[in-house]
Amino acid sequence: MAGGGAAGAGRGAPEAAAEPETREFLFKVLVVGELGVGKTSVIRRYVQQLFSQHYRATVGVDFALKVLAWDPRTRVRLQLWDIAGQERFGNMTRVYYKEAVGAFVVFDISRGSTFEAVLKWKRDLDSKVHLPNSCPIPAVLLANKCDQKRDGDHSPAQMDRFCQEHGFASWFETSAKDNINIDEAARFLVETILANQQSFAAEENDEGKIKLHQEPLAAGSKSQCC
Ligand code: GTP
Ligand code: MG
Repeated sequence: MAGGGAAGAGRGAPEAAAEPETREFLFKVLVVGELGVGKTSVIRRYVQQLFSQHYRATVGVDFALKVLAWDPRTRVRLQLWDIAGQERFGNMTRVYYKEAVGAFVVFDISRGSTFEAVLKWKRDLDSKVHLPNSCPIPAVLLANKCDQKRDGDHSPAQMDRFCQEHGFASWFETSAKDNINIDEAARFLVETILANQQSFAAEENDEGKIKLHQEPLAAGSKSQCC
């Protein structure tokens, strides 16, 4: 599903309201992690309610858009940037990360090496993108393929400690295959982003101005989800 053409404010500033008192936000969310951990599958499950066993590696970056009726007066457009695992913290990730307000860092619970790489992805995020107040963008860790046999100790206590130590907002066991916890993880991330957004809005109101940041979308970009 292409995200292109969605009018909006990259940092989540309210768009022109369709009706009085209706708020609409556009949030750019990154999805990163090692090759084949299931980033595209998680997004595809979340946006299209589809899953395929067939593996086709993402090249560069792909986009998907999920529109959420968050509450009766708030609509949230999530622009999901599906960064290819083969990018591996390369130079392009700095470009892809620009203006993002949240991230999912995904690993494959059945492949221990992908968990080891999680910290490299987190460091890559933290060194290349920040919120307007210079804080790291909130990152949620996804232990994907939880329908498979586990490789390593990923007990809840261990994962809680890991998240606390390394600055993840939270973690979820997910399965794109069996549709486990993906909506819950996304809801958690959006709640966190909205809370940040409220504090930025208060600061911007204090300054007596509203900044609109338009996020340019790659022309002709297509989604693997389509
Ligand atoms: P890159 O684009 O190369 O970075 O990979 P990716 O992270 O986007 O992985 P992708 O979604 O393409 O999935 C890789 C393989 O894992 C595919 O064969 C999927 O069917 C499979 N897969 C993804 N999620 C799950 C899951 O939750 N459970 C199981 N059993 N398989 C999954
Ligand atoms: Mg992919």
